Amino acid sequence: MAQKWTPASWRSKPIEQQPEWPDLAALESVETKLRAYPPLVFAGEARRLKDDLAKVAAGKAFLLQGGDCAESFAEFHPDNIRDTFRVLLQMAIVLTYGAAVPVVKVGRLAGQFAKPRSAPTETRGGVTLPSYRGDMVNGMEFTPEARLPDPQRQMQVYFQSASTLNLLRAFAQGGYADLHRVHRWNLGFVEKSPAGQKYREFADRLDETLGFMEACGLTSETTPQIRETDFYTSHEALLLGYEQALTRVDSLTGDWYDCSAHMVWIGDRTRQPDNAQVEFLRGIKNPVGMKAGPTLDVDSFLRLANALNPANEAGRLTIIARMGADKVEEKLPLLLRAAKREGLNIVWSCDPMHANTVTASNGYKTRHVDRILSEVSGFFAAHQAEGTYAGGVHIEMTGQDVTECMGGAQAIGESSLGDRYHTHCDPRLNASQAIELAFTIAERLKVGRSAIQSARIAAVS
Ligand code: PEP
Ligand code: CO
Repeated sequence: MAQKWTPASWRSKPIEQQPEWPDLAALESVETKLRAYPPLVFAGEARRLKDDLAKVAAGKAFLLQGGDCAESFAEFHPDNIRDTFRVLLQMAIVLTYGAAVPVVKVGRLAGQFAKPRSAPTETRGGVTLPSYRGDMVNGMEFTPEARLPDPQRQMQVYFQSASTLNLLRAFAQGGYADLHRVHRWNLGFVEKSPAGQKYREFADRLDETLGFMEACGLTSETTPQIRETDFYTSHEALLLGYEQALTRVDSLTGDWYDCSAHMVWIGDRTRQPDNAQVEFLRGIKNPVGMKAGPTLDVDSFLRLANALNPANEAGRLTIIARMGADKVEEKLPLLLRAAKREGLNIVWSCDPMHANTVTASNGYKTRHVDRILSEVSGFFAAHQAEGTYAGGVHIEMTGQDVTECMGGAQAIGESSLGDRYHTHCDPRLNASQAIELAFTIAERLKVGRSAIQSARIAAVS
């Protein structure tokens, strides 16, 4: 029998990847303040996301989750929020139209500020300081002052997240996401890239379809689905004091929801079955995710899946596989088979970024678009072989014209990485690379879905 869960029960469990707070009383006072602040999302919205994800689990929709590796205070600007949102819309429409499948849109946004690191300290020129753990904890500059964990930063995270969420809601519901703007989402530097040109041709076709629909009486005025969209937020639940402070009882159901985001996930470095992150996530009713790297064995996977989704509800648990381009076809099928054998309801999503990170010879941390595409392709191949549904992608991207990932149709080489390398943590796909990826996935999805449909037809005939 599992022990009683409370929003604080994680505190008696082992926990990894936490800052060494210099002043615990200051941390406690921040958490007390946050407990009295308004929730950022409403439990009913998290439930709706869970229902949408249940459709993904059933093979009837696709999950697109993306955004910064780490949001930052320095890059907080309406244009950055708008541009990330816009590229996610472009990707979603390419997937929806290209593969005829509804797309569930979830941003790594409005709360993605805390980072696990490969080492607790960093040494430069003989000086050792605490590692940068995201703007929610400390500053990126390599000085003792900046690197000292400061709990006050959580207040800034809260207010920046509230403000970001406010703008996202306005964009999603206020007309910006109207499908008639499909051409205008392609403005700026993206338009001139090869992916932007491909997108323009695609948008022309969509325009024709919208014209046809309008002639049939389906307009932005008559059909809200044309005018607005659902857009959800998510982040890694790493600093559990912050998550606990925003965890509230839903007055409609009496259940606990973490109201810092619609969905939260556990990272690959904090998914030990008996640790604090698993304890915290098991008790909240939001849809939750868990990263699954190549070291996750089948027994631990089944234990974790049962702990996080004891009632085996569809849409509750998303497994975000990040195996690496060269391991995905060997490792993923083991998990898919075990889940199938046990009859587990899971949304399978592919993070083709985190196990394909390399250091270029000039020292930049980067990822090759080819390796990213290759992991996506291996992910789809594994699902096709096992007869399971490849349900989504989870990517690190930005709407800006950065040069952080190599390759793609723009052919960014090693010597260009320094031109516009702005990330606070891992390298992100730029807008053109992200749209290019969406076209590739749309193709794979179309093939995979027609295979599933043929199998269904064969089964009933
Ligand atoms: C991340 O998503 O930024 C991350 C740290 O991923 P993972 O937990 O898969 O390493
Ligand atoms: Co990352």
